Amino acid sequence: MTGDNIVGTVVELEVGPVAHGGHCVARHEGQVVFVRHALPGELVHARVTEQTTKYLRADAVQVLTPSPQRIEPPCPHAGPGLCGGCDFQHANIVEQRRLKSTVVSDTLRRIGGIERTVVMESPGDEGLGWRTRTRYAVVDGRPGMYAHRSHELIAVDKCLIAHPGTPDVLGERWPEASYVRAVVSSEGKTAVLTDKEPGGRVVEVVRNRRFRVEAAGFWQAHPAAPETLVDAVLSGLEPVAGESALDLYSGVGLFAAFLAEAGCAVLAVEGDKDAVKNARRNLHDLPAVTLEQGDVDRVLNAAAGQGLEQVDLVVLDPPRTGAGKDVVRRIAALSPRRVAYVACDPAALARDLKTFGRLGYGVASLRAFDLFGMTHHIECVAILEPVDS
Ligand SMILES: C[S@@+](CC[C@H](N)C(=O)[O-])C[C@H]1O[C@@H](n2cnc3c(N)ncnc32)[C@H](O)[C@@H]1O
Repeated sequence: MTGDNIVGTVVELEVGPVAHGGHCVARHEGQVVFVRHALPGELVHARVTEQTTKYLRADAVQVLTPSPQRIEPPCPHAGPGLCGGCDFQHANIVEQRRLKSTVVSDTLRRIGGIERTVVMESPGDEGLGWRTRTRYAVVDGRPGMYAHRSHELIAVDKCLIAHPGTPDVLGERWPEASYVRAVVSSEGKTAVLTDKEPGGRVVEVVRNRRFRVEAAGFWQAHPAAPETLVDAVLSGLEPVAGESALDLYSGVGLFAAFLAEAGCAVLAVEGDKDAVKNARRNLHDLPAVTLEQGDVDRVLNAAAGQGLEQVDLVVLDPPRTGAGKDVVRRIAALSPRRVAYVACDPAALARDLKTFGRLGYGVASLRAFDLFGMTHHIECVAILEPVDS
């Protein structure tokens, strides 16, 4: 490496394995290159898009030797320099899932020191038409999608991963707004909101239970996700009537509801005021649920001070950053017989599993779900148990 700035130049790359983040790894003159729009085993010409002292980023702009798994992207807005919303439109769906399985296994090994072969489970779709909540960027009143790692707005007339029931907001102008969000609920009701105009609430139905959610608040984007994750958590935890449980990062009460229906006494902890307000409403028929609004670490600390010494079961579903060492320590200190960790970031999951491991909790099972087709995102559910049990 000469240290010259080579951003914008085109280099030939032999593409190596997939890595977390929607790219594959290659080498150029000894330096690591994270290359998008490529697949393992391909020989490509790639334009360098970013250069740091440690690595380069590049976009494959010409494929010299295509992978047998390569397809023409279904979306005309997918490709180098275009919409940054999807990462894997150029791979068939089977290959996408294989790549994501590899990412989970590699990340667990590299960060968590955990050896596990993971097979991505399909929610029964082909990766398109699933997103029930789509946020579009707005620049000068025009909606679109940002290019990858950029604030350049790409005009998009249609998003193929958006659920067909989401309202069409792309044909309109949104003066004053910096984003517009289109939502469709499981009952087919729609909402549109911008940063200037909040969009009210929608009702979502899971296993015949109704959950009121702010249109701007957190709810899983894939229509199959809530039920899939509830099933994975309950089958992993095997709750028994009379047991005590924690639902940490509980949102509007999804997991708390079904743990309580199974006969558990549940303490649900959530930081967002509106989510807790909705949870209060959603779970009003379940007196065995106690809702606490606040930071999980602080609420668990306060609960320990008030005499909470043990719980039977814990489900935690933290944001992308993970739970972190302090929260993991507090959970382990309560000696649960099982923990269900619902994770949207495999790297944060691997870090937290490593902490759990040091505290005597091992991975009894780990499932991964392809609930974000065409993108590199992954949802995992890990079931942990005390190692000597
Ligand atoms: C991935 S969502 C899970 C929500 C819920 N379990 C569900 O499935 O709908 C993470 C939730 O954690 C909440 N949250 C993030 N950081 C938190 C913290 N430090 N303490 C409490 N809640 C937090 C967010 O408001 C969000 O509702």
